[in-house]
Amino acid sequence: MLVTFQGRDDGEWAIESVTLLAGQNLPTAPRLAVIEKAVPDPKPVSWQLRGTVSNLRYTTRRERSALQAVQAPLTRREATSAALIPIRKSNEWWQLAQDERREIMEEQSRHIAIGMEYLPAIARRLHHCRDLGEPFDFLTWFEFAPEHTGQFNDMLLRLRQSPEWRYVDREIDIRVSRIAADRAG
Ligand code: HEM
Repeated sequence: MLVTFQGRDDGEWAIESVTLLAGQNLPTAPRLAVIEKAVPDPKPVSWQLRGTVSNLRYTTRRERSALQAVQAPLTRREATSAALIPIRKSNEWWQLAQDERREIMEEQSRHIAIGMEYLPAIARRLHHCRDLGEPFDFLTWFEFAPEHTGQFNDMLLRLRQSPEWRYVDREIDIRVSRIAADRAG
């Protein structure tokens, strides 16, 4: 499934903040639209990022089963806050072998183990875009109720201190809140 994220003047999410953590920022925009159809309607955009929902690369069967047992779906009524965090990893990362990347991600950084602690409060979807020739390698998307923002921020602090994040060379943390359907435009 191809998903397009557009920064533009209308859309179902209001952009509340944009925090640049590494690399170059995106142009500003008031709203975010998340489009799940292959060809979005032509509309003027300030920026556009695309990614595909793909197969798992690093997750073991045991981890996958544990995730499936607790994870929440997207578009829950109460999940009116969300974060789009586009990420690019360095050439050094991409030159590693699959087993070396898994070792850094999980055995050293506990990415999945840490993330699991925040489920089901945080619902997530990972989009891959490196092979689409996009400016980022991943578009990470998270939805949660506003009262879980603190927990989400704690998780980010832990992940960003981990060895895996030494390989992140572009990252932008875009926080949004859902606006009523009749005002989405
Ligand atoms: C909500 C809790 C989280 C859980 C349960 C979680 C779980 C996972 C899992 C299972 C994968 C591996 C997918 C695979 O096997 O290919 C993964 C990959 C990834 N996650 Fe998370 N994650 C969480 C939070 C986060 C956060 C907050 C970020 C970003 C700030 C993030 C960024 C990424 C990225 C960029 C990848 C792809 C890494 C790569 O392929 O090199 N995750 N996550």
